[in-house]
Amino acid sequence: MSSEAEWWKRGIVYQVYPRSFQDTDGDGVGDLRGIRQRLDHVVSLGVDAIWISPIFPSPMKDFGYDIADYCGIEPLFGTMADFDALLAAAKERGLKLVLDLVPNHTSDQHPWFLESRSSRDNPKRDWYIWRDPAPDGGPPTNWLSEFGGSGWEYDEATGQYYYHAFLASQPDLNWRNPEVREAIYDSMRFWLDKGVDGFRVDVMWHLVKDDQFRDNPPNPNPPAGGNPANRLLTTYSADRPEVHEVVREMRAVMDAYPERVLIGEIWLPSERLVAYYGEDLKGAHLPFNFQLITSAWDARQIRDLVEEYERALPKGGWPNWVLGNHDRSRIASRVGPRQARVAAMLLLTLRGTPTLYYGDELGMMDVPIPPDRVQDPFEKNVPGLGLGRDPCRTPMQWDDSPNAGFAAEGVEPWLPLAEDWKTNNVAAQSRDPGSVLSLYRDLIALRREEPALSLGDYQDVTALGTLLVYSRTHAGRTILVVLNLGAERHEVALPDGGGDVLLSTGGHARGSACLAPCPWVRRKGCSSP
Ligand code: NOJ
Repeated sequence: MSSEAEWWKRGIVYQVYPRSFQDTDGDGVGDLRGIRQRLDHVVSLGVDAIWISPIFPSPMKDFGYDIADYCGIEPLFGTMADFDALLAAAKERGLKLVLDLVPNHTSDQHPWFLESRSSRDNPKRDWYIWRDPAPDGGPPTNWLSEFGGSGWEYDEATGQYYYHAFLASQPDLNWRNPEVREAIYDSMRFWLDKGVDGFRVDVMWHLVKDDQFRDNPPNPNPPAGGNPANRLLTTYSADRPEVHEVVREMRAVMDAYPERVLIGEIWLPSERLVAYYGEDLKGAHLPFNFQLITSAWDARQIRDLVEEYERALPKGGWPNWVLGNHDRSRIASRVGPRQARVAAMLLLTLRGTPTLYYGDELGMMDVPIPPDRVQDPFEKNVPGLGLGRDPCRTPMQWDDSPNAGFAAEGVEPWLPLAEDWKTNNVAAQSRDPGSVLSLYRDLIALRREEPALSLGDYQDVTALGTLLVYSRTHAGRTILVVLNLGAERHEVALPDGGGDVLLSTGGHARGSACLAPCPWVRRKGCSSP
């Protein structure tokens, strides 16, 4: 592949959770002006694109994933003029801007749903999924909401149930209805015409449901202690074959514009995930690959999943890797602060577009949320199981000024700050060449300098004990990646020949993970610090 590859293949995506990035208007919630104000941080990281979680008008029942108008801006975040200014400022800096598209469901306050629920014969009735009660008066199927309880809500006024894969205030649209499709495609064109560079499509695999409304089967292996909804498989409520036709149509909308990217949020195993590249690669450019989030932190398992994913990719399908997002525990909490550095090196040296989550570049940890500060409806609906997502959504830590620079003095941020914000912040870490932030900057700079890392082939070398070793090759240059996923020191015998350590997680040659051109110097093992 040439270095002329599309930007989203060479590039790195940085996710901004807008409520938590930068508040400029004193309400304790981040906003668009705040994102614009902080773009230079994003540039200093060296990433290519920002993806911003939803910024559209919303009752905020699910913090923006409940949209009441696909073509507006939520006043909490600012105005359309603020959005235009942000887009222009991003473009000035050579940054791409990707928006969140939430086509599976709207808010129950969206005018489409208000019309739909107003009567059985309203022209928009069929825009949502309405069904008669089961013979016993209960829900039409056993489908569950991801956020607890039945996926069906009874509407007294019209005597039918509507389906919601998430909150009852997030009714699912009926993607079998061509008018729904056109309405969403029009909203995509609205933003594409403005110049946005792509969409991350929320729960892409949920869009189409079984046309016969069959009950979901029980899950033979429900993960212990997880989401109660996992007691059933989602055989009939998600990942239906017809979804691929919709994805293809979305892609056709994108293809009318040059250089746009279609990213799909899809939590499925590799073999089903890759179907979302579409026939002839006319589906999503990047079906998000979350395996680094779901896998155990184990060298062998990670090696196997990389191999399996590489094998499963369709010819020409471009891989991608996600290390964290606004729905899951932060990487530094999942694997510990030391290993979070190794994880950064893994993310930024694997073959495929990396997506990183704001704050992970500081090694931010999940923040415990006192019960009276809980915001997430998931935690409120299904309490005490550790499913709440507030801990990974706390304000960005910029400096040691009041509220970590996230909000003005005296303002209460919508979620509490991490305790360590005075010392652990962008300003402090920028001064320290050994910080996680410096490591991210160095890794990203190296990835940009070395086509072997961004575009090169992937070769497995070994997974031995806690060691994971692979190489990346492009145009005759090979870079070896040696990662130690454990706490014990290891010496590694490497091939004869010369070469330098390019980068190590310890900021020097004796880190717990390092990159080197191959063949590598024999005397320098890669070891834990
Ligand atoms: C996935 C999003 O990432 C999550 O935050 C949201 O709650 C659900 N989809 C519903 O939109």
